[in-house]
Amino acid sequence: MEKEKVLTKNNIVAPEGKLGVLIPGLGGAVSTTFMAGVEAVRRGYAKPIGSLTQFGTIRLGKRFEKRIPMIREFVKLSDLDDLVFGGWDIYPANAYDACKQAGVLEDKHVDPLAEFLKEIEPLPAVFNRDYVRNLDGDHQKPYKTHEDNIKALKEDIENFKQDNDVDRCVMIWCASTETYLAPSAVHQSVDSFYQGIKDNDPNIAPSMLYAVAALEAGIPFINGAPNLTVDIPALIELAKEQGIPIAGKDFKTGQTLMKTILAPGLKARMLGLEGWYSTNILGNRDGLVLDDKGSFKTKEESKLSVLEYILQPEVYPDLYDGFYHKVTINYYPPRGDNKEGWDCIDIFGWLGYPMQIKVDFLCRDSILAAPIVLDLVLFMDFAQRAGLTGIQEWLSFYFKSPMHAENLYPEHDLFIQLMKLKNTLRYLMGEEQITHFGLDYYHFVD
Ligand SMILES: NC(=O)c1ccc[n+]([C@@H]2O[C@H](COP(=O)([O-])OP(=O)(O)OC[C@H]3O[C@@H](n4cnc5c(N)ncnc54)[C@H](O)[C@@H]3O)[C@@H](O)[C@H]2O)c1
Repeated sequence: MEKEKVLTKNNIVAPEGKLGVLIPGLGGAVSTTFMAGVEAVRRGYAKPIGSLTQFGTIRLGKRFEKRIPMIREFVKLSDLDDLVFGGWDIYPANAYDACKQAGVLEDKHVDPLAEFLKEIEPLPAVFNRDYVRNLDGDHQKPYKTHEDNIKALKEDIENFKQDNDVDRCVMIWCASTETYLAPSAVHQSVDSFYQGIKDNDPNIAPSMLYAVAALEAGIPFINGAPNLTVDIPALIELAKEQGIPIAGKDFKTGQTLMKTILAPGLKARMLGLEGWYSTNILGNRDGLVLDDKGSFKTKEESKLSVLEYILQPEVYPDLYDGFYHKVTINYYPPRGDNKEGWDCIDIFGWLGYPMQIKVDFLCRDSILAAPIVLDLVLFMDFAQRAGLTGIQEWLSFYFKSPMHAENLYPEHDLFIQLMKLKNTLRYLMGEEQITHFGLDYYHFVD
């Protein structure tokens, strides 16, 4: 009953006023590329390529009806002009200096935005070097306890809202990947978690403190990195209790994006897989962080699970049983943010004859991530306005390790993810689901 009451288009609150975007990791490559990009688009200097919310359309009804509105108009997303940015970093550089340092965008694109970017200054961060061993910035809050840090973050949020005249916010973790953390007793329930906060439990990571501050402040939380953060029973439960949407984890860009495009195609044609060897070289700060074993393990877990779920070796043992899958990331400073991802894919076809596919993706990590940040912010604000709470699995499209209910396996296939996303929007707006069943055009039409 409750579900039906909430999930109708009449209950969706309009996106009035400004939308605050709160970013832990404000001075990073992804964040600065995102903020500079939004401002460049607002001024008409460039186009938001790669963003489904800005370019995507959605078909409604039968094909002959030709109803294909823009997604952002169909579900009334916030306008780019209404976005306001703020956040935290362990380095004090303003967004202009940080953007220059990240080296993703060229000076000719950043300099015209200097005045705007210089005004965005990070607040002191909640940081613990045990969780990110290769960084040591000292723009940090002075507090020692989890409780004091959460309180300080909530004060920051409140001040940001007042200073910017903002009612609605979304928080998106674009900070460094934290070291690998296995879920433990303290993560299992809201009660054990709050006890852990009182006790300064070392298994509560800084990212979790930001998430708690967001949830307690009624703000949707998105996790762009592979660390657990909100993907633990305690915070999933807290999000439900507070009536707030959460989403994660790890933005699906670069090599994993390619994997989730290619693997469903191979499987659709029932081609077998002997092995998939993936390696990357990158030289940005993210690469430096991932050069630490603990942070890399967090990333590796996230990158490895994709193929198992798409190919389902237990269902197709003749095609996929025991395929070899290896992922490595190598820190190589000369490349900066311009990552190179190689894939050597050994497949087999008819009668078991072997074939090879080589992919060499000369990509730009943050150029691929920025539109994802934009889409997630706008969709999560929409989710909040539509009354959706807890895990937003319909946003799996954007993640390497999509969060999912305990009794489900994650959906990694990019095309199924897109269908799920669009059908969710159709459902919320009271439109028919599209199944792509087409016989009705030929056999059942009057
Ligand atoms: N770029 C991509 O394609 C991509 C894809 C998937 C995931 N990610 C993840 O997104 C995150 C950002 O990537 P990036 O390339 O911008 O990295 P980055 O190193 O340039 O930026 C991360 C920023 O977070 C800051 N930081 C670290 N710990 C913090 C804390 N506790 N509080 C506040 N700030 C903190 C760092 O100082 C840094 O400025 C990383 O976790 C990365 O793994 C990126």
